[in-house]
Amino acid sequence: MIVDPKKCTGCGLCIADCPTRIIKMENGIPGIKPENDDECIVCQHCLAICPTAAVTVGGKLPANSRALEAVDATALEMAILARRSVRQFSGEVDEQTLRRVMDIVNHAPTAVNARDLHFTIVSGMEAMAELRKRTCEALIKDAARIDASRQWIVSVARLWLNRGVDGIFRNAPHIVVVSCGKEQVHPKVDSVIALSYFDLYASSLGIGTTWCGMFDTVLRQLPESRSWLGIPDDHEIGYAMLFGKTGVRYARAAQHSPAGVKILKGLQN
Ligand SMILES: Cc1cc2nc3c(=O)[nH]c(=O)nc-3n(C[C@H](O)[C@H](O)[C@H](O)COP(=O)(O)O)c2cc1C
Repeated sequence: MIVDPKKCTGCGLCIADCPTRIIKMENGIPGIKPENDDECIVCQHCLAICPTAAVTVGGKLPANSRALEAVDATALEMAILARRSVRQFSGEVDEQTLRRVMDIVNHAPTAVNARDLHFTIVSGMEAMAELRKRTCEALIKDAARIDASRQWIVSVARLWLNRGVDGIFRNAPHIVVVSCGKEQVHPKVDSVIALSYFDLYASSLGIGTTWCGMFDTVLRQLPESRSWLGIPDDHEIGYAMLFGKTGVRYARAAQHSPAGVKILKGLQN
């Protein structure tokens, strides 16, 4: 943490907001003692909260941060209501748009700011056709290795080989698999949060998405399929998501029964 003494007003906001509580005021200027440097998780709260842009941390200059604007809650509500599982696609997503999505998804939180996620993207109809072929053939060849409770997925694979119906990949032009270093505190949760961000933000750009439980099953039941995608051995798989330019537009939201919510103002028992 480097603090510009000409800009710092000594307001102490960075001290109050530091999650690991290692920023201390010294002669009116906040800082981290060298012996506490290792405890800094580089979450950049100190950089983000400073009203005068006095804080640089982990080599990140405040001038390079995007300015924040007020969030329109109605727009966010609409994004949540409008997101649906899309299973009809109208084309591939161009690389520039995909990079825009990934730049935003990269802001998803990870436990202790580990930021150890990998997004493996199979891109384009040709690559997806190869993935579909390998997946369906492997499911049929190795059907005996699939858990009894998941045998139905073999029938879905047969549907493709016999009738050309793609029940696993839904003819999507892309799939993303998120994985995270196994040694991290919450690898699966970190991955699924990032994929949720992907889901919501992508849909706001006209990209249809569907959580792909079926390919997730394939990755877990036939682990050799991980190597088709080059997923490192020391990574835990979070989940998979199909995506592509959306081929559908919904006119209205779904109607769900109320969520089971319990608000406790004291503990039970
Ligand atoms: C963890 C998870 C796994 C899913 N797996 C699949 C899948 O393999 N194939 C599919 O077509 N839809 C899959 N879905 C989509 C659900 O069927 C869908 O979210 C649900 O029907 C609600 O519809 P909505 O997403 O349009 O609101 C999955 C959803 C979740 C959350």
